[in-house]
Amino acid sequence: MPTIEQIKSSMRSTWMAGDFGVIARTISGSADEFIARLNLPAGTRVLDVACGTGNTAIPLARSGCIVTGVDIAPNLLVQARERAAAEGLTIAFDEGDAEALPYPDASFDAVTTMFGAMFAPRPELVAAELARVLTPGGRLAMANWNPASFSGQMFQVSSKHAPPPPGIAPPVLWGDDTTVRDRLASAFTDIQTELIPIDFDLPMNSAGTVAFFRQYFGPTQVAFSRLDAHGQAGLAADLEALWSGANVAPDPATHTLVRNEYLQVTGTRK
Ligand SMILES: C[S@@+](CC[C@H](N)C(=O)[O-])C[C@H]1O[C@@H](n2cnc3c(N)ncnc32)[C@H](O)[C@@H]1O
Repeated sequence: MPTIEQIKSSMRSTWMAGDFGVIARTISGSADEFIARLNLPAGTRVLDVACGTGNTAIPLARSGCIVTGVDIAPNLLVQARERAAAEGLTIAFDEGDAEALPYPDASFDAVTTMFGAMFAPRPELVAAELARVLTPGGRLAMANWNPASFSGQMFQVSSKHAPPPPGIAPPVLWGDDTTVRDRLASAFTDIQTELIPIDFDLPMNSAGTVAFFRQYFGPTQVAFSRLDAHGQAGLAADLEALWSGANVAPDPATHTLVRNEYLQVTGTRK
């Protein structure tokens, strides 16, 4: 049975594997839309938790917010800093853990996290930290893959072949309406949830898409690396079946278009 320290260290290496920046570029338009819907006024002090390569931190800064991004993966932060510099944006990108945010209480007017804090292994610590760093009346906005979404199904297929450590709550529970309300209820009021559509649109067929995720998406790359050749073939076949079954592109031999969705969760710090 691995210790929590071992689990966390392995999760950090998992997110450093591959190159999430390549995946992030394929969904950056949805990040722009998520930030636009929040409509935070210029000057808002925002913490973007599990910021990755800056998909959400960058549009926040463009809109005039004072942005800090925090993530456990230092190589992704390097890319985030480069992207911000290329646009002449000033954003503080810090290495840190969503379960123990390196900021004093009530430091931010808003906290965002898109497909991010949901991946930390201890949701109760994450919920407490998201609340702790917010000022009273501050806003929380999360984008969480929900269990029934295409991404939820993708994680389920990977977990079937390369199971996660026992006792860790599935990340997609952050996308379950009842569970997320329960986790946030003690510190947040006016909790609202909405399913938001998001397309995965890739210029390759289903087999190419599986290979793309295997190369660039750390969790998929690591799941494959834990299997022998037979297990890898089984995981590849199941992922390919999932992608091709959901592919609605008119030209599936050269193109993948999958209708995905996530649960947007907003709340106000009590
Ligand atoms: C799917 S990526 C999303 C990144 C970014 N929010 C985006 O939308 O492009 C998940 C991110 O969560 C980060 N992450 C995972 N567990 C974390 C934790 N415990 N604390 C901080 N960041 C974490 C990973 O390093 C990775 O950058």
